[in-house]
Amino acid sequence: MVGNGGREHAICWKIAQSPKCEKLYCAPGNGGISEVAELVDIKADDIEGLLKFAREKKIDLTVVGPESPLVKGIVDRFEDEGLKAFGPRKELANLEGSKVFAKEVMKRCGVPTADFRVFDNSADAIKYIEEKGPELVVKADGLCAGKGVIVCRVKGEAEEAVKKILDEKIFGDAGKRVIIEELLSGEEASIIVICDGKNFVLLESSQDHKRAYDGDKGPNTGGMGAYSPAPVITDALFKKISDEIISPIIKTLGSDGKFYKGALYAGIMVTASGPKVLEFNVRFGDPETQAVLPRLKTDLVELLVRATSDALEGYSLMWDRRHSVSVVLAAGGYPGDYEKGMEISGLEEAGKMKDVTVFHAGTKLGRRSKDGRGLFITSGGRVLNVTALGDDIKQAIERCYTAVQKINFDTMHYRRDIGYRAVKR
Ligand code: AMP
Ligand code: GLY
Repeated sequence: MVGNGGREHAICWKIAQSPKCEKLYCAPGNGGISEVAELVDIKADDIEGLLKFAREKKIDLTVVGPESPLVKGIVDRFEDEGLKAFGPRKELANLEGSKVFAKEVMKRCGVPTADFRVFDNSADAIKYIEEKGPELVVKADGLCAGKGVIVCRVKGEAEEAVKKILDEKIFGDAGKRVIIEELLSGEEASIIVICDGKNFVLLESSQDHKRAYDGDKGPNTGGMGAYSPAPVITDALFKKISDEIISPIIKTLGSDGKFYKGALYAGIMVTASGPKVLEFNVRFGDPETQAVLPRLKTDLVELLVRATSDALEGYSLMWDRRHSVSVVLAAGGYPGDYEKGMEISGLEEAGKMKDVTVFHAGTKLGRRSKDGRGLFITSGGRVLNVTALGDDIKQAIERCYTAVQKINFDTMHYRRDIGYRAVKR
């Protein structure tokens, strides 16, 4: 496993349960991951270092968590050396690496998405903004660590965003081009699909909470919590997304000789005129994965091996019908500056609760106590993901927050309303 976040802990946790897994390494991993995998001190985007390690250890399957090594071509390098790696090759990893490329693919495949135009100079972009009015979304083309999307509602905002990206180059080369697109309204949901190049299976739906504070207020974050399933995605919508979004993408790319393998994440806006794609990611979502995987009954190793071996045809997944909620516990200040190195208490007590799993996102193993228990300290902004299952969403939420209350570290903060949209429905 490559990566070090909560998503990677959830994937490692699930892989470690498989009888097909003889030995699991995670590079570089985190404190919690060290409980289920052997940590290897190689950075997630050190492709040559990872390749050397995989060759030496004769790794049968490498699973890539974050986008950066995928966009840099880790899968191409591994496959060229005869090693199996789960994820798309570099060209198709551009579905996340270049928003312009993603839009062009959507257009070619007839996939519903916001109307858009691409600009590489601010004068033309500003002329377009003047025609369209203030309600627009400005997006830098390349990877910007989740900061490249600016939703504009008030006059002047879009112009300012364009100038910052194209003229002041606040995102460097990732902002050589911008997309200006129609502002969509509706409720968002996440759909993650596992693809083998020609065939695919959808994981159950989920929903992220991107803003830092309750009621979707405050700055954008990497995600403050998630739940699954997302009732905004009805059975009919789920099928529509499969038939009218995922299938045309996989089929059209395949007919061009471009076989998408790996996880494909579609960020969907459910609008009054149907589901539209906001963005593609070429990996599992974070923190959605921490809510979705505890509901998956199917052996994850079998699923991932099938995906890398063109063997998903006719395959279907088994699910726990219960609901899950995952709450992110963050360090004070996140998503801005925050402290590290705080001792975490209550992990064991929370983890012992029935139907509760605590995934680590930003922790380090401090030391082990005499009886061998790990003592963990914080090492990131998002520190833990507390996940609980329940017979319905309310029970899952109650159970999750009961577990959250057992955990503490200095400056800890979290949203208290994860799952509120599902409850409302
Ligand atoms: P990111 O995950 O950083 O790419 O941020 C994308 C977020 O920006 C989405 O989750 C939406 O909340 C918002 N967004 C992106 N495109 C649009 C759009 N066309 N209309 C409305 N909101 C959008
Ligand atoms: N949860 C959004 C993402 O993984 O990008």
